[in-house]
Amino acid sequence: MSFANHKKALITGASAGFGREFALQLAKQGTDVVLVARREEKLKELAAEIRKLGVAAETISCDLENPTERARLKTVIESTGVDLLINNAGFGKLGGFTEIPMEFQLGQIELNIKALVELTYYAVPVFRRKGFGTIVNIASTASFIAIPNFAVYAASKKFVRDFTEALAHELKGTGVRACAVCPGPTETEFFEVAGSADKLKIGMMKVSSAVSEALDGVARGEARIVLGASNKALALATRLFPEKLSMTIASRLTKQ
Ligand SMILES: NC(=O)c1ccc[n+]([C@@H]2O[C@H](COP(=O)([O-])OP(=O)(O)OC[C@H]3O[C@@H](n4cnc5c(N)ncnc54)[C@H](OP(=O)(O)O)[C@@H]3O)[C@@H](O)[C@H]2O)c1
Repeated sequence: MSFANHKKALITGASAGFGREFALQLAKQGTDVVLVARREEKLKELAAEIRKLGVAAETISCDLENPTERARLKTVIESTGVDLLINNAGFGKLGGFTEIPMEFQLGQIELNIKALVELTYYAVPVFRRKGFGTIVNIASTASFIAIPNFAVYAASKKFVRDFTEALAHELKGTGVRACAVCPGPTETEFFEVAGSADKLKIGMMKVSSAVSEALDGVARGEARIVLGASNKALALATRLFPEKLSMTIASRLTKQ
């Protein structure tokens, strides 16, 4: 599989975890990258590492929860030749609904949903005019069930998956593709930000194998990719189990 036909990828949340790994794996395949996140130093270090691979790397320090800051990306998407958008930046906070400060609850909606929809809105017309381009939105296996103590996060990821799959359908025949990637627990900084949930960390995937599986699925043109065999089984089980049972099991796993 190769991404050589994509010339430039804009990757949000590139300072750590999935985003960093997407940038490295794409760069190794010859795709230039635009790295977006808040931690500028981390982006600069990664860009320097990537340039050694012989591709171009730009950095944009941006708080995507801030609508004014993220609006700057419109011009970048419209006028710098980006043909692969990876909406990866996201976070979750574990805890009872009102135990989590409201700024974090709303922040999850601002970042996981609103920023993702906005950047996709900028990219679709540009890619359609070219008749080529790919939008990869990072959802989660959390999108398959309502999860007590992770309520806003799981609902935000269900939005991402439904939105992306519907968009992929709309875009059929245009040369533009959209893909929802659904990772399960993976070794990144995610759980440091989310708060401890040791029961959720069983069978964590390595981020390198998760990203390489994601890129293979995107290259095959899949609209939904669930990463890893056990996560695929889990996604299937949520369709077979009664919802109440799934929620009871999920609430045991997320209880702190
Ligand atoms: N790891 C898992 O177990 C797992 C499972 C399912 C889905 N996911 C999804 O995978 C995606 C990537 O998460 P990860 O696991 O790689 O977590 P991570 O290691 O914590 O990385 C999150 C990235 O998002 C960026 N980010 C956070 N808030 C931001 C903001 N306001 N503005 C701009 N960038 C921001 C962070 O950069 P800065 O802090 O520098 O801004 C960082 O680069 C997320 O959408 C997450 O929901 C993860």
